[in-house]
Parts: sequence; C-alpha cells; structure tokens
Amino acid sequence: MNIASDISNLLGRFGANANGYLEVENTIEYKELPKTAVVIPVGPVNSPAGVNETEDSPPAAEKETVSAPPSVAAANSPHSAGERVEPVIVDLPADTDGAAPSATATATAPDPVPPPVFSSSLRSLLAEVALKRESQARAQNEETALHTSLNVAQPLTPAQVIAIVSPKGGVGKTTICAALAGALHGKGRVIAIDLDPQNALQYHLGAGSDAAPAGAALTEERWSSLLRSGAAGTCVLSYEAISEEGPRALEQRIQKDRHWLSRQLGRMNLGADDVVILDTPAGRTPYLEQALDVADQVVVVVTPDAASFLALDHIGDLFDQHGDCSYVVNQFDASRTFCQDMLEVLKRRFGSKLIGVVPLDHAISEGLAYGVNTLMENRKSPAWHEIQAIGDVLKSESESHALAGIRA
Ligand SMILES: Nc1ncnc2c1ncn2[C@@H]1O[C@H](COP(=O)(O)OP(=O)(O)OP(=O)(O)O)[C@@H](O)[C@H]1O
Ligand SMILES: [Mg+2]
Repeated sequence: MNIASDISNLLGRFGANANGYLEVENTIEYKELPKTAVVIPVGPVNSPAGVNETEDSPPAAEKETVSAPPSVAAANSPHSAGERVEPVIVDLPADTDGAAPSATATATAPDPVPPPVFSSSLRSLLAEVALKRESQARAQNEETALHTSLNVAQPLTPAQVIAIVSPKGGVGKTTICAALAGALHGKGRVIAIDLDPQNALQYHLGAGSDAAPAGAALTEERWSSLLRSGAAGTCVLSYEAISEEGPRALEQRIQKDRHWLSRQLGRMNLGADDVVILDTPAGRTPYLEQALDVADQVVVVVTPDAASFLALDHIGDLFDQHGDCSYVVNQFDASRTFCQDMLEVLKRRFGSKLIGVVPLDHAISEGLAYGVNTLMENRKSPAWHEIQAIGDVLKSESESHALAGIRA
C-alpha cells in the first residue's frame, strides 16, 4: 500500500473520495511585516483632581504600549474565522514581566503562557490612584462633618443675651450699651462684649486698652479668661480680644460659621442670672447676623431724624423679624420742633416697641473725654433715669421670657 491508497481508504471511510485531495506543503513562507505597536486603550482620563476617575480608568499618562493577550487580539481582529491570518509582530516593553520580545512571534503559534497585560509600573500607578481617591474621599467626609457641625444649631447660653443694634452709625449704640451694662447689674454678672471693630466699648466702660490679662494666650478660645473689669462691676470683652486674627479674617470666618457667637458664649459657662450685652457695628454686617442669632432681646437705637428713619427702610424688617425687638430713641432734643415731630413719627412706627427716649445731653459726649460716664454715674441727669427705666423694661421682659420657658 502506498500513501495515495492509504489516503483514498481513509477518505472512503468518511464517504469521500480522494479526487479533490490536494497535498500542501508543511512549511509556509511567512511575510515579514513592519513592526506594529498594538496599543490597548485603557480608558478616558479626566481632570487632574480625579473627580471622574473610576477604578477601571487610570490616567492617560498611564497608557502603555502593551502586548495584547490572544483573546483581546482575536476579539479585535478584522479577520473572519478560517481566514488566513497574517502574523503580527508586537512591541513588548522592556520591563514586561514576560519573555523578551520575539521578532518572530506569530498569531498561528500562540505562547503557552500569554504575556502579562499590565506592567508592574502600571500596578504601582494604579495603587497611587487608589490611594489618592481614598484620601480625597476622606477629605470630603471631613469637610462634610465640619460643615454640619458649623451649621447645626448650638445649645444657647442660659444667660440673658441683649444685642444693641442700629440701622445707621453714630446714633449712640456704644454709649447706650455701656450705660445699660451698668443698669442691668443684678444677681449675676453683666458681660459687655464688643462686636464692633472700632473697639470703643472698653473706653465707655473704663476698661482701658491694655493687652489681654496675664496668662491669657492669644489663641485662647475661651473668652472667660479674656474678660476685664469695667465700671459698675461689669466685665468687658474688647473687640481686639475676640479677634486676634484681625477684623477681615474674623468676618470671613463668621460668615461661614453661623453659630460662632452662640458657641463662644456657650463655652463661657455662664449662669441663668448672668447677662450678656453685645455692642455691634451699624447696619447689616456678619456681626449683626451673629448677634441676632443668639440674642434673647434686641434693642434698636435710632435718633429722631430723617437719616435713621430712612435707614430703617433697608433693615427694619430684619430687626422686626426677631421675636423680641424694642426701640430706643436717643439724643432727643426737646427744644427743637423738628425733633419733636420726628419723635411722633417714630412713636407711630414703633408703637409699644418703643421702650425709651434718651434726651440729648452734651455732658455725655464731653464726659467720655474725661473718663466720666454720665449715663452711669450722674443720677441727677434725666438721661441716667431714662437708662434705668429702659433697664427695668428689659429685666421684666427677660423674667417673663424665663417664666414662659423661652430662654434656655
Ligand atoms: N444722649 C446723648 N446725648 C449727647 N451725646 C450723645 C448721646 N448719646 C451718644 N452721644 C454721643 O454721640 C456720639 C456717638 O455715640 P456712639 O459712639 O455711642 O454711637 P454709635 O452708634 O456707637 O456709633 P458707631 O455706629 O460709630 O458705632 C458720641 O460722641 C457720644 O458721646
Ligand atoms: Mg459704636
């Protein structure tokens, strides 16, 4: 039997014949192709911050020229099954873990062990990306926690808090604030806090302008250690003591931190018999917002003139929205008809919320020059009596709040 009859017998067993049989050579002349780098795209890359990065999409810088594994090469192949496939030579990077690049690697003779898809350097880059992602997530969580803590309502101090405010400047807020601090002295302490960068309250209360008391660190957050003794047994916290970082920085900080003042007062461990009185800058400021947030009572000081009246148009609603808002007219000059008329207009506007009219008394402004506070010391002055009466109204309002359980 020769080879031809063997083939004929073999094919006959399968119902075929040897007529169409063609002997082919068992060696193939392979065509030499130019080297082709096969680049596997590894996904889009987003912003440097990695906002949209995913586990499956490393940055563009990490794209590498890698050899395609057989399955990938087959999937990407333009050739149909059974079609003759030209050998493809691929570039393998020098640091590839697999065998050295072969100049004669062919598609028809796949390696028994496919070359690794990812290099060790890619793995370490991916690890870096994962670490970065985790640290970004941690930072985001911390920021969220901080934001939440800053905006969650803080427990209020049990002390009575009174904010002295005004729609315009120069009406006598600081003067009235200092005088009321003396008039409100009762069972507990009266603490006068200056929230105005002008830092003038300390002069009205004779607390001087020394640096903070010995032992108080500049970074001290607990205001209790920064209090100074003022006139009529008051305690004074000057603006410079609460703002070691400077007015601009403090304003920016408290704009974001809605309950800064409430928290600061909470740390002072005040009692229900204590009174806190706040001096504020004129108009709508971050200090005013903080004061309105924490105050049990708001006292708006105005002068009997057109300027105060017109300024109320811009800010009056903000004051009136507060649950306990009352008005004091200051520097009332009874000798002037216009002043009297303006007082009538203001009475109509404020109604029962008007709790006092303090007369103009030049001894008040002159006394400041000599360290004498007429409103606190001169019992013969009608202005002194008016301040006492206003203090009494505030005390009785505070007592009724306490009875009604409005105050903490
Ligand atoms: N009843 C009064 N009679 C006379 N002068 C007064 C009276 N009240 C305040 N003054 C004087 O008016 C001036 C302004 O007062 P003060 O500084 O208290 O106003 P203010 O509203 O706090 O001003 P600012 O908005 O600048 O903080 C001061 O010279 C003060 O002595
Ligand atoms: Mg003032």
